[in-house]
Amino acid sequence: MALKIAFSGKGGAGKTTLSALAIKYFIDKKITPVLAVDADPNANLNIALGLDFNETIADIREEVLEGKVMNGETKNEFILRRLNEILVEGENVDLLVMGRPESQGCYCAVNHLLREYLSKLARQYKVVVTDTEAGMEHLSRRTTDDLDVLFIVANPDPVSLRAAIRIQDIAGKLKLKIKDKYLILNRLNSTPPLFLKEMMESARLNFIGSIPEDLQVSMCVQEGKAVLGLVSTRAGEALYKIIEERLKKKSD
Ligand SMILES: Nc1ncnc2c1ncn2[C@@H]1O[C@H](COP(=O)(O)OP(=O)(O)OP(=O)(O)O)[C@@H](O)[C@H]1O
Ligand SMILES: [Mg+2]
Repeated sequence: MALKIAFSGKGGAGKTTLSALAIKYFIDKKITPVLAVDADPNANLNIALGLDFNETIADIREEVLEGKVMNGETKNEFILRRLNEILVEGENVDLLVMGRPESQGCYCAVNHLLREYLSKLARQYKVVVTDTEAGMEHLSRRTTDDLDVLFIVANPDPVSLRAAIRIQDIAGKLKLKIKDKYLILNRLNSTPPLFLKEMMESARLNFIGSIPEDLQVSMCVQEGKAVLGLVSTRAGEALYKIIEERLKKKSD
């Protein structure tokens, strides 16, 4: 069974960057193959991974609704074939892009089939890392259920932390199947200041660690290059420790 991890948090908190660095961790440790899922309608995880994509899960959904299932093919066969076609294959990591949210229409049946096939697909991987969209929509639409770890990413400021608290609350209220939720403070070079510590404690956020401000990472993103291609970064090292701590805790 694949280890399923997702990164959520306020817009710009660092979800995509940390998703790519987490994928790099699993590749470096040879815990492969990895499935990267870009669940942000404004998809850009591919850039961080140095991969290109043309089509998304949303395209399949629309095609089924528009009756584009080929003659001689059942709906199931069509979905399975198209899923294989849109899957972008990298060296140790494959990428699946969810695409735009559904417009009006009756998507229940196709969504049901897609979910079924996606969970079958996930079983072919050692790890699934999902980069989610900002905000809580994906949680209420329940595309982020059945997770081992939800990392909630926040920058060290009250607005970002409040967004993290809301995400934790919504995840709790929806009773999503998430084994563990952890808070990561991103772009923080020291221990959290007292007022943030107090906010975290009163909201019972499970703070697992901080990622430092890393010029190498921000330059790489600014230049549109792949974070996955960076050999060694301060941000990556900090995230590696966090992931290792979580993995170690579970094997104890
Ligand atoms: N630890 C870090 N050090 C330096 N820059 C960082 C760090 N983490 C993220 N950044 C920068 O912050 C910006 C936002 O990061 P990123 O795109 O990963 O956030 P996001 O949460 O995915 O944003 P969005 O909500 O728009 O998808 C990027 O320019 C990225 O380079
Ligand atoms: Mg992003």
